[in-house]
Amino acid sequence: MNLETWTNIDAYFTDLLHDRDPILDTVLADSAKAGLPEIQVSVPQGKWLHLMVQLSGAKRVLELGTLGAYSTIWMARALPSDGRLITLEAEPLHVQVSRQNLAHAGLSEKVDVMEGAALDTLQQLIEQNVEPFDFVFLDADKENYPNYLPGILQLMHTGSVLIADNVVRDGAVIEPDHTDSRVQGVRQFNQLVADNPTISATGIQTVGTKGYDGYLIGRIS
Ligand code: SAH
Ligand code: DHB
Ligand code: MG
Repeated sequence: MNLETWTNIDAYFTDLLHDRDPILDTVLADSAKAGLPEIQVSVPQGKWLHLMVQLSGAKRVLELGTLGAYSTIWMARALPSDGRLITLEAEPLHVQVSRQNLAHAGLSEKVDVMEGAALDTLQQLIEQNVEPFDFVFLDADKENYPNYLPGILQLMHTGSVLIADNVVRDGAVIEPDHTDSRVQGVRQFNQLVADNPTISATGIQTVGTKGYDGYLIGRIS
């Protein structure tokens, strides 16, 4: 089994289970036109995040790493009418494109894009004493995953769901001496989760258009 098979299976499920979605098509086209890297979640992964938000009954979602707001839109669409999503993004161009995409998707009221390094904007949220989040999707710079965890935990409550993207990285995650700082960041993050008795977690490996990777999913107690 290889990337071609995994891509065909993603296409199979996309054709089978997904309605055409001109809004998301435009969002992806406009993001590419603006020169954003095409590293957003795949269609089935976007729908999976959407379902996770729905199944958890989350009303308040926090995302780290917006890019063009593709994953943001999938999650925000799963929220009830009084739900809110805050997403943190450092790159001014990504912030601009994501706000435009959210407006196109009719989600500007529901979603706030906070511009700045996520370590700073996380701190701002803590200082503002915002209501805790029911669901957090961590997908920003992998080097900082371990540094984000304490702030994220301060913004969660018992029963909150934490999902972290890209924790397998083609299998590199089990190589203790891997030279890529992103792999080391993810490894440290996974270890911190393992060492934290308030997080019950597991790792889920995934294959698809984005290759071989995975999620860490946890519940805070
Ligand atoms: N969640 C998106 C993909 C995010 S890609 C999706 O699936 O649609 C990772 C994003 O994190 C990029 O847009 C990058 O600019 C942003 N990022 C990188 N370093 C960051 C930092 N220190 N703080 C906030 N965002 C950061
Ligand atoms: C890549 C993929 C991601 O999901 C991400 O968040 C960052 C980078 C990549 O394939 O490079
Ligand atoms: Mg990712």
